[in-house]
Amino acid sequence: MSKFKLPKAGTIEMSPSILSADFSDLASEIAQVESAGVNIIHLDIMDGHFVPNITFGPPIVAKLRKHSNAVFDTHLMISDPEKYAKAFADAGSDHITFHIETVDNPEKFIDELHGLGVTCGVTLNPETPVESIEKVAAMCDMVLVMTVHPGFGGQSYIEDAAKKCVRIRELVGPDIRIEVDGGIDRETVANAVGYGADTLVAGNAVFGKPDRAKAINDILMAAQ
Ligand code: DX5
Ligand code: ZN
Repeated sequence: MSKFKLPKAGTIEMSPSILSADFSDLASEIAQVESAGVNIIHLDIMDGHFVPNITFGPPIVAKLRKHSNAVFDTHLMISDPEKYAKAFADAGSDHITFHIETVDNPEKFIDELHGLGVTCGVTLNPETPVESIEKVAAMCDMVLVMTVHPGFGGQSYIEDAAKKCVRIRELVGPDIRIEVDGGIDRETVANAVGYGADTLVAGNAVFGKPDRAKAINDILMAAQ
C-alpha cells in the first residue's frame, strides 16, 4: 500500500525524471530536487522491448524508497506491465503509469492497480490517438501525454502531441491530473500548460543543469 499520495489536481507540480540524473549517486540527486520543494519523482522504467533502451527495475526502486518522501511516479515503458505491477508496488511505487499500447484489457488492469493500493496513470505515445484512452481515462488518477517518442531523455518537444491535452481535459474534467513527458523545459512548458497540462516531467532540463533548485524554479516560473 502506497504511503505517498499524488497532490490533488488543481496545482502545477513538477515530476523530475531521474533518467538524466547521475545513476551512481541517485540518493543525493533525489535529495537535491526534494529540498527544492518537489513532491513527485518520475521513474522511467524501460525494458529494451517496448522501447529501445533499458533502465532499472523494482530492486532499485526499493533502495531509492529509503531515501525519499516524494511520490514515486513510475512510468512503465515495458511490454508486459501486468506482469510487473505488483513488484513495483511492493518496491514502493506510489503511482504506476502504463502505456495503452501494451494492455489488452485496460479496465481490468486499472482495477488491479487500484487493488494494489497505488494510483494509476494511462499514457499514449505521440502518434496514438486520444480515442484509444477514451473509455478508461476517467478511471485513472492521471493521464500522461508523451511529448516525445519514449526511450530517451533530451529529445525535442512535440507540440502536436501536447495538443491532445485539450481533448483529454474535456474527457476527464478538472479532478484528474494531466502530465506531459518529454522535452519540457523553460521554453516549452508554458505551451504545454496552455493546453491543460498540470504535472510536468522534466529530465534533462533539471538533472542536466548544475543547480537543480534553480532549474526547477526557472521551469515553474515559466509555467505561470
Ligand atoms: C522518455 C521518458 C521521459 C524522459 C524525459 O522516454 O519517459 O520521462 O526522461 O526526459 P527529457 O525531459 O530530457 O525529455
Ligand atoms: Zn517518463
